[in-house]
Amino acid sequence: MTAPARPVTFLHLTDLHLCVPALADSTLNGDTLASFDAVLARIAQLDPAPDFLLITGDLTHRGDADSYRLLANRLGRVAMPQMLALGNHDRRGPFGTVIRGEAGEAPYAHEAVIAGVHVIVLDTLVPGRIAGALDAAQFAFLDRVIAARPGLPRILGLHHPPVIEGETAPVWRHLNPDDSARLARALEGQGVAGIFCGHIHVPRVSLWHGMPVVVGNGLHDGHDPLERQAMRITDARGFGLCTLRPAGLTVEFVSLPHAGREVHRLSAEEVAALR
Ligand SMILES: [Fe+2]
Repeated sequence: MTAPARPVTFLHLTDLHLCVPALADSTLNGDTLASFDAVLARIAQLDPAPDFLLITGDLTHRGDADSYRLLANRLGRVAMPQMLALGNHDRRGPFGTVIRGEAGEAPYAHEAVIAGVHVIVLDTLVPGRIAGALDAAQFAFLDRVIAARPGLPRILGLHHPPVIEGETAPVWRHLNPDDSARLARALEGQGVAGIFCGHIHVPRVSLWHGMPVVVGNGLHDGHDPLERQAMRITDARGFGLCTLRPAGLTVEFVSLPHAGREVHRLSAEEVAALR
């Protein structure tokens, strides 16, 4: 793997599910703003400060402009570079208007070289669907930026994790299989040190085609991985403190205080009906 010249640290947050109090609804499993504020308070104390912040989607719970304004307010307090992905709970229009200062519904892919690391964020959002996909424009963007920056270590951020071949979880939990396979081909041999995702609300690491795929717990809730048929949702929340060294990638999973209690449950039939 191509290595950075010095250890590079970054924070991986995901699934903020921010929701302005006026829009608080019964599908919100906790005070997501309080969780985000607690994380921001802790990371503000880190010395030295991390090199960048990566947030891999579900920035808001309902994709409304007021919740993006709340996000902008909080991110305005964070001094480090920020890379944001969109998740299935997000909406490109309000996100673009509030966060990017650009109207429109175009997918949001972007990249930056930060401390010698090439950080690439792709947009897997499919409006109206829980599942994720990457269209031809996203792959073209990926190929173009990789070709333009040869020889750099790379970190990829996207909301939906690529599907792990042979896994029996419902397809809606992942990037679709065809796009996952195409992504693996696009990234092969390109110095990818880690792929960071969210969506499933389970802290999980997979070695996928030789690349670590790191899924963060997120700040909304936790899905119990021991519950294989139904979906048991708990109050677990957390984020990742990541270091990319010449020897490779380390992710330390930081758990926010929680009781481990069940906050919601979906039956196997209800899970099967989700798309
Ligand atoms: Fe989420």
